[in-house]
Amino acid sequence: MTADIFFEIHQDLPREGPGRNKYTRKAFHILPKLDKPRILDVGCGTGGPTLELARLSQGEVVGVDIHQPYLDKFSRKIEQAGLSDRVKAMNSSMFKMNFLDESFDIIWAEGSIFIIGFERGLKEWRRFIKPNKFLVVHEMAWLQPDPPQEIDDYWKKLYAGIMTVPENLEVVSGCGYSLIGHFTLPEDAWWLEYYGPLEKRIQKLRIKYTDNPKALAVLDEEQLEIEMFKKYSKWYGSVFFIMQKR
Ligand SMILES: C[S@@+](CC[C@H](N)C(=O)[O-])C[C@H]1O[C@@H](n2cnc3c(N)ncnc32)[C@H](O)[C@@H]1O
Repeated sequence: MTADIFFEIHQDLPREGPGRNKYTRKAFHILPKLDKPRILDVGCGTGGPTLELARLSQGEVVGVDIHQPYLDKFSRKIEQAGLSDRVKAMNSSMFKMNFLDESFDIIWAEGSIFIIGFERGLKEWRRFIKPNKFLVVHEMAWLQPDPPQEIDDYWKKLYAGIMTVPENLEVVSGCGYSLIGHFTLPEDAWWLEYYGPLEKRIQKLRIKYTDNPKALAVLDEEQLEIEMFKKYSKWYGSVFFIMQKR
C-alpha cells in the first residue's frame, strides 16, 4: 500500500528527483572532450538525464534502474527520440551490476548514489570505469556545518550518510579519484521539475484519499520533505561531483 501510493504520487512527474537538463549539460561540459563515450547512468528513472547525455555525447548510453514502470516509460522515450540504436534501458540493481570491468568512459548518477551510499558507490563502481575516465554524481550534502537541530534530526532519519562537502571531497580522494569540479544544484533545479509538480500532485491526492489515513500519512511525509526544503534550503542541497579515476 505505502509503496503503491508512493509510486502514484511520483508517476509521470517530469523528474523523479531534483535536477534539470541544463545542469546535466553544465556537469558534462566540465569533462574533457570524449569521442562517442560509453556511458552508464545508474538509477536512471524515466531517463531524463540519460537521454540528455545521449544527445550531448553522441555516444552509447545504458540506463539502469529497478522500477520497471520507470524503465517502460524510458523505453518509450528512447523510441520516440529515435535513439534505440545507442540508448538502452536495463532492469538491474546498482548493488549487483553485471558489466565488464573497465567498460565505461563515464558513470553518471543523478540523485541516486545515496541508495548505495556515497563511499560504497564510489568504491564499487570504480572497477567499471576505464583507466583515467570519469564518475559524475550529484549527492545530498550539508552546505554549511552545524545545521539546526530540526533539520539535522530530519536528515539523520532519512539519510544518515549525508556529509559536508569537504567530507565528500575527502571520500573522493580516499576512493581513488581526483576531483575535476563540483557545484551545487541551484534552487530552480528543485522547484521547476520536481517539488513544484510534486506539491500539486500531493494536493490532488489529498482529496482522493481524504478517508484513507494510511495514504494521508504517506502524503504528509512527502509534504514534510518539501516544507523542510522551504525552511532549510540554505543548509543542504544536492552537489554535483565531477571525478576522474586515478
Ligand atoms: C531520485 S530518483 C533519480 C532518477 C534520475 N536519475 C533523475 O535524476 O531523474 C532515484 C532512482 O533510483 C532508482 N533506484 C532505487 N533503488 C535502486 C537500485 N537498487 N538500483 C538501481 N536503481 C535504483 C529509483 O527507482 C529511482 O528511479
